[in-house]
Amino acid sequence: MPREPLSVVVTRRLPEPVETRLKELFNVRLRDDDTPMTREELIEAVRTADVLVPTVTDTIDAGLISQGGEKLKLIANYGAGVDHIDVATARQRGVLVSNTPGVLTDDTADMTLGLILAVTRRMPEGLSLMQKGEWDGWAPTALLGGRISGRRLGILGMGRIGQAVARRASAFGMQIHYHNRRRLRPEIEEALQATYWDSLDQMVARMDVISVNCPSTPSTFHLMNARRLKLMKPEAVIVNTSRGEVIDENALTRMLRAGEIAGAGLDVYEHGTSVNPRLRELPNVVLLPHMGSATIEGRIEMGEKVIINIKTFEDGHRPPDQVVPSML
Ligand code: 8YV
Repeated sequence: MPREPLSVVVTRRLPEPVETRLKELFNVRLRDDDTPMTREELIEAVRTADVLVPTVTDTIDAGLISQGGEKLKLIANYGAGVDHIDVATARQRGVLVSNTPGVLTDDTADMTLGLILAVTRRMPEGLSLMQKGEWDGWAPTALLGGRISGRRLGILGMGRIGQAVARRASAFGMQIHYHNRRRLRPEIEEALQATYWDSLDQMVARMDVISVNCPSTPSTFHLMNARRLKLMKPEAVIVNTSRGEVIDENALTRMLRAGEIAGAGLDVYEHGTSVNPRLRELPNVVLLPHMGSATIEGRIEMGEKVIINIKTFEDGHRPPDQVVPSML
């Protein structure tokens, strides 16, 4: 007797080819409108599905997971970061968690370089001048930015994305420095020409650009707190394409306003969509709406990873991208 396909609930609209394939393979419930599910809808989903496919906009906490029904066996996250999922509680309840690493590395690293250039070369100020029709011609001293070539880039978190940022920044002539929980193997360090700093404080104090590329975990919360932000050189800039919680956003805003940090490029925010309004007013700050991985190719490949994780699980094996608490 052929088995019933797994019942899968997807919390957000996904690219069309991904939804089509999910429909072919599973008994899937897709989202009709592109808004996050309410708490009630999420509860209903975990009570009735074998597999939940959430995204970063869903809070999959202990309270929700413990309402999960007998059937719930897998949370196949659409995204690499799993900070919105209580992985430890899921494990205790025998619910597996998987993610989609690797396929959004290059896109996120590209966006990191985009932000570094946008901030250091003052692109938003130029754009605003053009959009307002206020440009009255070239001038030798107009809109002068800083050259990134030869500058020191300090990468905070040297995983896949951090390393992809390093490769790109090297091509732009930047000197690569990094801080990470674990030092990279010597051959990787050598290939990236990267200098390791055991002390984050010491690294931060010497960099021209800081790039945040570590995941959000309890130990990285406010890693860039007020004290550490104050160690930055006043002419340095900071970019973040990881998670907002790693930077104390209020402290950063105060320092940017006071001119104690030269600029910032942010794709992610500490309090989700409620971005500090004072941050929005600053000309030396580039703000993007969490679009680091937003390419059609990347989003389809993320969907393919989700499908492989579910299918492998359905076939009785461990999902290839299983996340366990010890990895976090
Ligand atoms: C994703 C991200 O698009 O993968 C991640 O961790 O931050 C994003 O780029 C998002 O998480 C989708 O859930």
